[in-house]
Amino acid sequence: MAKNPVKISDTTFRDAHQSNLATRLRIEDMAPIAPEMDAIGFYSMEVWGGATFDVTTRYLGEDPWKRLRTLRQLMPHTKLSMLLRGQSLVGYRTYADDVVNAFVQHSAEAGIDIFRVFDALNDEWNLDTAAKAVVKSGKHLQMAICYSVTESGRLGGPIFNLDYYLAKARQFQGIGAHSIAIKDMAGLLAPYDAYELVKALKGELKVPLQLHTHYTSGMASMSVLKAIEAGVDIVDTCLSPLALRTAQPAIEPLVVSLSGTDRDCGLDFQRLLKLADYLETILPKYKPFMESPRAAVIDPRVLTHQIPGGMTSNLVSQLKEADALDRLDDVLREIPKTRKDLGYPPLVTPTSQMVGSQSVSNVLFGRYKMVSGQVKDYVYGLYGRPPAPVDAEVVNVALKGYPKGEKPMTQKPASLLEPELEKAKAAVKDISSDLDDVLIYALYPTTGMKFLRIKHGLEPMPDDMKPQPKATPIAPPVAATALPPAKAEAPALATPAPSPSARTFNVFVEGEYYEVVVDPVVGGSASKPSVARRPNQMANATEDIVMAAPMPGLLLRYLVQEGAKVKPGDPVAVMEAMKMENTLPATVSGTIKALPLKPGASVRKGDVLVMIAP
Ligand code: CO
Repeated sequence: MAKNPVKISDTTFRDAHQSNLATRLRIEDMAPIAPEMDAIGFYSMEVWGGATFDVTTRYLGEDPWKRLRTLRQLMPHTKLSMLLRGQSLVGYRTYADDVVNAFVQHSAEAGIDIFRVFDALNDEWNLDTAAKAVVKSGKHLQMAICYSVTESGRLGGPIFNLDYYLAKARQFQGIGAHSIAIKDMAGLLAPYDAYELVKALKGELKVPLQLHTHYTSGMASMSVLKAIEAGVDIVDTCLSPLALRTAQPAIEPLVVSLSGTDRDCGLDFQRLLKLADYLETILPKYKPFMESPRAAVIDPRVLTHQIPGGMTSNLVSQLKEADALDRLDDVLREIPKTRKDLGYPPLVTPTSQMVGSQSVSNVLFGRYKMVSGQVKDYVYGLYGRPPAPVDAEVVNVALKGYPKGEKPMTQKPASLLEPELEKAKAAVKDISSDLDDVLIYALYPTTGMKFLRIKHGLEPMPDDMKPQPKATPIAPPVAATALPPAKAEAPALATPAPSPSARTFNVFVEGEYYEVVVDPVVGGSASKPSVARRPNQMANATEDIVMAAPMPGLLLRYLVQEGAKVKPGDPVAVMEAMKMENTLPATVSGTIKALPLKPGASVRKGDVLVMIAP
């Protein structure tokens, strides 16, 4: 037995497949190895939370509560952990305190032992309700600090320096954390920084310290090893078939690396190999979710500018669509400036999309000439407090005319919310009174309601939600498994197969998240519903002023009706573009003559959005 064995937390059933398989692993493929995983001797297994709750209900037709209880039953000896996004729970907006309390208590009863609670901005305003609820449930409260870097890409600088992390850790320990985690979601923690950080935190903390990192940039295995040398108590790894790429380091090489040392984790290498063999047999059917056009399993480019992997590929495709790929270098230079203006938010969902698309729009249209709805909400404070203050001039520009107020709020975001649980109970009372179901609805009113109707037999399960027979490749993520926003009107046409130019967007509508596939129609095809989408000929025949889409995206809604009088600057339409909602102002004074598109229509740069008679 080693003197100080490092404890291992396994992420195979949660973060590993969330990172590398778009969260698609189904319970029927976990259950066969669950008892053997339970017998390995992991300190804990992360099995729930993050995107697993959303994806099970939205795409897999699987009840997330049932998944948790099944795993609990199959794995009675291992502590089960979940990732909880603070006041946002497992969703994408801030929920009211009563929903947070009910969700935590119910999850504890269903089998969660360890709650890893975090907030993208490390703001305790977004953490305290969830943290108190965990303590009250009698379970283990782990509070995670999101790891970020300032500009140099290393620990240090004006914001994300050692003092920042020590202060956060002290604060979280003071809130009542039973352990602290460093959560390096973008794989930015460099090995020697990991050593320095862990050494300092271990010298300060009374509670255990855990490291969660991602392989993305290629440093994670080295960083984990240095953290272990510096005395970290617990590290997150996963089985090799789901390891590396954007997921965690693999456990197998770590077991060998540590064997015989005073930090030997004591896990049985041969048994781990057998479990990996099993995963190899079931993963082929998930292959479409795994494929990447790149040869490298790592993305070292992230180390040059600290911009997370997914973000750069999004930027490239956004710029391509806007016919401005030549501005990529300008955008990469703009990102640190925009991030600084916005108070150095860690670049993680949803702030990475905000900073990325605001930077693109700053480069293409002028700095803060166009500010998206989410950035306004962020500046107002609906996402919490950023690590540093937002630039005063940006606050003024972004909040000019903002309906909730022109000064940022000075209280916790959830304090604006009325209780929500009773309303959710009322909304589903004809279908179910089970708290499992009430919470699914409270978290995701649209996709959750659809799931409940399927679960309770009120509508059939769509074929693409059903489990696929073994070894048959299941639909890739770009296939139309995505649900369109509830308000969108689907065209009354047979669904065509997505073309190679189809692109998947994350769309956030009123706090709910949608994965929407946008496939531009190639001009001139008679079989396509091109009339509504290419009304340019219509415009040419009139004297009307045409407002054209400044970039490609989706038309979410109009804010005016035909016949309305507008003046320059009045908001007329909301477009989803570059993963953000953007409000488009009228360009001239006049009367709205025509609104040629239907909400939900995909729009190319230059398409007519609004016609105004001057
Ligand atoms: Co993670």
